[in-house]
Amino acid sequence: MKIKSIEDLKRIKEEAQKNVALREGKAKYKVTVHMGTCGIAAGARQIMSAVLDEISRRNLKDVVVTQAGCIGLCDREPLISVENGSQKVLYGNLTPEKARQVVVSHLVNGQIVGEWVIHTE
Ligand code: FES
Repeated sequence: MKIKSIEDLKRIKEEAQKNVALREGKAKYKVTVHMGTCGIAAGARQIMSAVLDEISRRNLKDVVVTQAGCIGLCDREPLISVENGSQKVLYGNLTPEKARQVVVSHLVNGQIVGEWVIHTE
């Protein structure tokens, strides 16, 4: 990315800080969008966009978003997992709208959206 303005520079700085936070285990939540073949076919890219957009709209700083491959649950795609310390919650059969609601409920309010959970660790 070319740096054209002070805003670009700020964005790069924030991005770098987020990565450091993740490496150092400081981010409160880690959201993983599963983007294997069937995930993408089921709309994982739209899920990724919705998650990133909602996080940015709400200016959430202690969340990192990453992507991962297939976990063998084709029929439950698209899937995202939300990790918070040792807790991991896997949500399935999402739509972009549901993914936004997961961001609001789980990441902002700390409430797991039980009806879309398919697995917890
Ligand atoms: S490609 Fe669908 S579960 Fe792996």
